[in-house]
Amino acid sequence: MDSGRDDGLGVVVLAAGRGERMRSDRPKVMHEVAGRSMIAHVAAAAEALAPARATVVVGPGMDEAAAAAPWPCAVQTERLGTADAVERARARHEGAGGDVLVLYGDTPAITPETLRRALARRRAADAPAIVALGFRPADPGGYGRLRMGAGDELEDIVEAADADADTLKIGLCNSGVMAIEGAVLWTLLERIGNGNARGEYYLTDLAALARADGRRCAAVEGPAEELAGVNTRAELALAEAALQRRLRARAMAGGATLVDPGSVRLSFDTALGRDVTVEPCVFFGPGVTVGDGAAIRAFSHLEGARVAPGATVGPFARLRPESEIGVGARVGNFVEVKAAVVEANAKVGHLSYIGDARVGEGANIGAGTITCNYDGFAKHRTEIGAGAFIGSNTALVAPVSIGAGAMIGAGSAIAADVAPDALAVERAARKAVAGGAARFRRARGGGREGG
Ligand code: UD1
Ligand code: CA
Repeated sequence: MDSGRDDGLGVVVLAAGRGERMRSDRPKVMHEVAGRSMIAHVAAAAEALAPARATVVVGPGMDEAAAAAPWPCAVQTERLGTADAVERARARHEGAGGDVLVLYGDTPAITPETLRRALARRRAADAPAIVALGFRPADPGGYGRLRMGAGDELEDIVEAADADADTLKIGLCNSGVMAIEGAVLWTLLERIGNGNARGEYYLTDLAALARADGRRCAAVEGPAEELAGVNTRAELALAEAALQRRLRARAMAGGATLVDPGSVRLSFDTALGRDVTVEPCVFFGPGVTVGDGAAIRAFSHLEGARVAPGATVGPFARLRPESEIGVGARVGNFVEVKAAVVEANAKVGHLSYIGDARVGEGANIGAGTITCNYDGFAKHRTEIGAGAFIGSNTALVAPVSIGAGAMIGAGSAIAADVAPDALAVERAARKAVAGGAARFRRARGGGREGG
């Protein structure tokens, strides 16, 4: 048993909805913001509360979405509404007692801190049976409305489709997050009907049912930028923007300079060290770590890469997964690195492809050098020893190994290993014909006669 778990907490994340408004062939919750799926964001926020048990409710065939959460899944075969979706998790949660935190998989910007506040309210001395997490969006539009009594008392939740004009004027909206006393949830869930505008079983009906039973409900208000739901592509873009603002603020608070923050695209796990400088228009895909004092220059694209302290990448560089750039190394413009290590102080300055390779410490790779790693069937490795010098426009035909300190003449196609400290040049023999150019022009009937 993991002693760090909250034994009194179960989590149910709803992700079975069709997401029709996305007009997509993919389940809505698999759409990505800041480098990972919405469902993975929500699951990570909930997992931070260390629930003793958690379930993600998906639709039939949504294996990908089920795999994106670190928990078992339950399948809702027919999308009959949010209450029916929670019902699918009953078997795994009902006997456990404690509290159940319900979240929706289409609210990707939610943070553990906000979830903890909702749960803390449920666990306060007066212990309301249900705590709904509310927020005030700029446009309450289609959100359910929280109708409040005195203080933080929640009377009921009314779906926009069922609301009258006065209710629609309420600015406090339902985020979908609810912290519920388990015993109350599983008893009341059976009593939820579908006699409403959409003919669905609404989880939001729980509040009114609980109050009819004489139980208290409460609402906690959370930040609007965390709680906006994503139903459309436009809302997906808004969620992305909200997450980017947060990630940039975090990066800068950690000591990175973003010269033009708004043009830098980060991923949920981008780790920038102290005194890192990121120039404008840089894209960080998932899995990038940049060490202290490194510089990522303008228009670079990185994913799955580790950049060591003091290294320089770009402008216009591309680091693909499994790239490692060593301390003080330089990867310059129009250089692509994939599954390769560029060791400390090595330089790959211009116009190169370095794939499935190791570039030894202090090696110098001339402009236009290409590791020819693919023969049409399999990938092969290139090893370049420490301090080697590769002349410009060299093709290194893998598998091939260049010894430490070796030199390769420019324009070579190197298809066999080169010993340490050797000098290798592989070019076609030179043919120079004296006066040949002049004769050629004469034959074509014109042009400069030349010397
Ligand atoms: C829901 C809430 C609304 C709230 C809003 C917040 C209900 C009835 N309404 O509305 O009060 O303001 O979220 O964003 O709960 N799902 C299933 N199975 C279903 C239906 C939905 O798993 O049968 C899942 C969806 O995948 C989604 C979540 O539940 O992750 C919410 O469903 P959605 O259809 O987006 O509800 P909203 O109309 O946004
Ligand atoms: Ca929604």
